[in-house]
Amino acid sequence: MRILVTGSSGHLGEALMRVLSADGCDVVGLDVLDGAFTTEVGSIADRAFVGRCLEGVDAVLHAATLHKPHVGSHSRQEFVDTNVTGTLNLLEEAVEAGVGRFVFTSTTSAFGRALTPGEGAPAAWITEDVVPVPRNVYGVTKTSAEGFCELVHRDHGLPCLILRTSRFFPEADDRDEVRTAYEDANLKTNELLYRRVDLEDAVSAHRLALERAPALGFGRYIISATTPFTREDLGELRADAPAVVARRFPDHVEAYERLGWRMFPSVERVYDNARARADLGWAPRYDFRYALDRLERGEDPRSELAGRGGRQGLPPGQHGPVHRAVRGRRRGLSAGLAQVRGAAPGCAPSTRCGRPASAPPCVHDLLQHDHPAARDGRRRRRSAHALPARLRPPAAAPGAAGRRRRALRRGRVAERRPRRRRPVHRLRRGRRAPAVPPLGAAALARPRPPPHQPDPAAAPARGVDGPQRSRSGVLGPRRYGPSSPAGTTATPSARR
Ligand SMILES: NC(=O)c1ccc[n+]([C@@H]2O[C@H](COP(=O)([O-])OP(=O)(O)OC[C@H]3O[C@@H](n4cnc5c(N)ncnc54)[C@H](O)[C@@H]3O)[C@@H](O)[C@H]2O)c1
Repeated sequence: MRILVTGSSGHLGEALMRVLSADGCDVVGLDVLDGAFTTEVGSIADRAFVGRCLEGVDAVLHAATLHKPHVGSHSRQEFVDTNVTGTLNLLEEAVEAGVGRFVFTSTTSAFGRALTPGEGAPAAWITEDVVPVPRNVYGVTKTSAEGFCELVHRDHGLPCLILRTSRFFPEADDRDEVRTAYEDANLKTNELLYRRVDLEDAVSAHRLALERAPALGFGRYIISATTPFTREDLGELRADAPAVVARRFPDHVEAYERLGWRMFPSVERVYDNARARADLGWAPRYDFRYALDRLERGEDPRSELAGRGGRQGLPPGQHGPVHRAVRGRRRGLSAGLAQVRGAAPGCAPSTRCGRPASAPPCVHDLLQHDHPAARDGRRRRRSAHALPARLRPPAAAPGAAGRRRRALRRGRVAERRPRRRRPVHRLRRGRRAPAVPPLGAAALARPRPPPHQPDPAAAPARGVDGPQRSRSGVLGPRRYGPSSPAGTTATPSARR
């Protein structure tokens, strides 16, 4: 069986490639970034590329995505392009190519606001039947991609299983208060109780889903470590989680004390994986009990596979700080963004641009990598200056104001004159404002020129492709997006 794995340079994709190829499967790895296991480099948003990659393929494991770490750095449109259009391209091209099974990696984040119970309410028990209330563009695009999976299955009969996977990322948590309060291994071991899955178990769930897809047809499954809790625990879990955990695992108290670890005071949701275990025959190994036993033996509570993840997606430990920096700099960067993208042609709007470290920095370095600019508070405040020097707008040439300041410093000028404010937009562009002539009697006496009258013969006919008006007058025929071929115009209906 020939299997296409998307996102093969990412955490999960690479682990899938590693395991499947070790088992002797015929695997094709697709990713927008190069990687040790990626054989096809390109974007799933490119339909022709997707079609070529699917030739002769029997099964698809679709893990490529923009996800939560990118919410602060990528536009909603980029999320739609990758997560929705990319998934639809894969589904429709899979039908064309006669693919026999499709597994879509979704996320428990799709449940969004349904995961947070109200003040004082018991913890939420999350099954596949809970209605998602997406919290951000990641949740919205993943749920709509799920919707397309269901639609294509219903319309074309493509066996399609959706795995709503809980967190398995190896990086530090993106919440400051949690990251500073708990040691990373402590945090991840606690999470195995209710909201985390080990990478090895996530891989085994995908393999089983591939096997079971033709028999099951369509289904959604929560993929998370088996929880030791039951619905009866929900009230107490919210109010006093350590008490519940101590009752279930009395030995954990001593182990935690020895390690200097702590249990979370409260748990707000619990993922129930019962349906995945029943339908897929999935038996996840890495639960809280298993992790405790491994700790007891002095072993790493994670699987070997989870420990092998390289520098994928975002670099380890960079979720929180970089993204806070990104949010702070976003406005300042937006002006230079288009310019930078154009200036760094090797750069794809994805998780990272994959250019060699020796290449000059690009916007992705600034947004996502462990780039000094992303950590430097001073640069963060002066956001526009965080752009690489060669991409910054030209600095203002020293003019009269500069000369006067220097003269003042040297004591050659006796007193300060009040500073004239220059228009802000001129300052931003780094140019000096043109000198404004004084509005004296001579200027007032000068006859005014007649207002500009556009030549009706020269102006194109008004209509959909008619002239566009701006404050400065007629701009010419409207163009719809950069995809319009040079010299042509497109109507909205042509784009529909
Ligand atoms: N990481 C987690 O904890 C977690 C939790 C729940 C669900 N998931 C889901 O698991 C899947 C894999 O997550 P991951 O942690 O391995 O992510 P990752 O960021 O490590 O890998 C995703 C890969 O997709 C690639 N990609 C992005 N845009 C692309 C495009 N347009 N075309 C082709 N490839 C593109 C990236 O280059 C990257 O290598 C995702 O679907 C995600 O929603 C992850």
